[in-house]
Amino acid sequence: MNKEMAKAPPANMKQIMIQMVSSRCLSIAANMGIADTIGDTPYPINLLSEKLGVDENALFRLIRVLSTQGIFSIDEHQIISNTEISDYLKSDVTGSQRNFARMMGGSWMWKAFNSLEYSIETGKPAFSIAFPDSDNPFEYFKHDSPQDGRIFNHAMSDFSYSFDKPLVDAYDFSSMSHVVDLGGAEGCLLNAIKSEYPKVKTTLFDLPEVILQKQGTDTPVEFNLAGGDFFQKIEPIADCYTIKYVLHNWNDDACIKILENCRNVIKDNGRLLIMDMLIKEDEPQVFEKSLDIVMLLLLGAKERSAQEFEDLLAKAGFKINRVIPSKCPLSIIEAVPV
Ligand SMILES: C[S@@+](CC[C@H](N)C(=O)[O-])C[C@H]1O[C@@H](n2cnc3c(N)ncnc32)[C@H](O)[C@@H]1O
Repeated sequence: MNKEMAKAPPANMKQIMIQMVSSRCLSIAANMGIADTIGDTPYPINLLSEKLGVDENALFRLIRVLSTQGIFSIDEHQIISNTEISDYLKSDVTGSQRNFARMMGGSWMWKAFNSLEYSIETGKPAFSIAFPDSDNPFEYFKHDSPQDGRIFNHAMSDFSYSFDKPLVDAYDFSSMSHVVDLGGAEGCLLNAIKSEYPKVKTTLFDLPEVILQKQGTDTPVEFNLAGGDFFQKIEPIADCYTIKYVLHNWNDDACIKILENCRNVIKDNGRLLIMDMLIKEDEPQVFEKSLDIVMLLLLGAKERSAQEFEDLLAKAGFKINRVIPSKCPLSIIEAVPV
């Protein structure tokens, strides 16, 4: 072995190898609701373990490993407090990460990760290798584990909805007469648009079952509802389509199909706004590039660079007008029909 190499301990690499411990502990802490239990009042470890019904010493060690990364703090009397970071593990704070942490450490996610090698060997999703009865996580949630599905949906909402305002702040919708949000789920992006631009007409387009749920609630909705399948036909005709945090769920062929269907209905002078994370090869982007692996593993999908979006758009009859950064991890790609 090269002596120089042996002298330099690869601290970084050790950190990465052991990171799975923190990740799993974080998820367990989120599941147990430690941050919620502590709240704003520091909590002695013995009372905390009693309240949570777990072993005191093991709980202390779990919190200790998390505290090395600023998640919870422990004083010399073993009194535990929330920190600026662990506050985000509380359930009811804006931008809560609790469900995202629960999802990443969920047993289904770890089971899927056991098959990651298959994805690397083939470039295909490994989900159905790990779960032979399900093609993708959504089928698994539907048939086998609605509870994991609920955590997943909450995780997506918590993660994605905090981006709506920064995205709306980054784009001037005042000249648009009708905005249709494709795969808009609960309609939070449209609510954010409506509150800034009350005169703009808005329509939520999502799967019929999602729209039916929306129609079934007592809360009045501020926008029109359109149920459909964006692989079949997009409605209604409008001058602005937004598609936020959707294309990263699909492989290239599927994205082209969605974009082509949008091209079929968008007005000649219309704007298509793709809101997604953008991969930048010259930046570290640990989170984005890690999430890209999760997309490959679970769905055979990917996070994309602006260039990759440009290639997809060109195949569907669009070109990029400009790329607009925002004060959140998502950027806006403004595309126009060609
Ligand atoms: C990852 S969520 C994104 C939700 C939302 N845009 C956001 O930013 O949080 C993907 C959305 O696409 C919708 N969707 C999935 N397949 C669809 C299809 N074939 N046609 C229309 N909507 C679809 C889902 O119901 C879901 O609401």
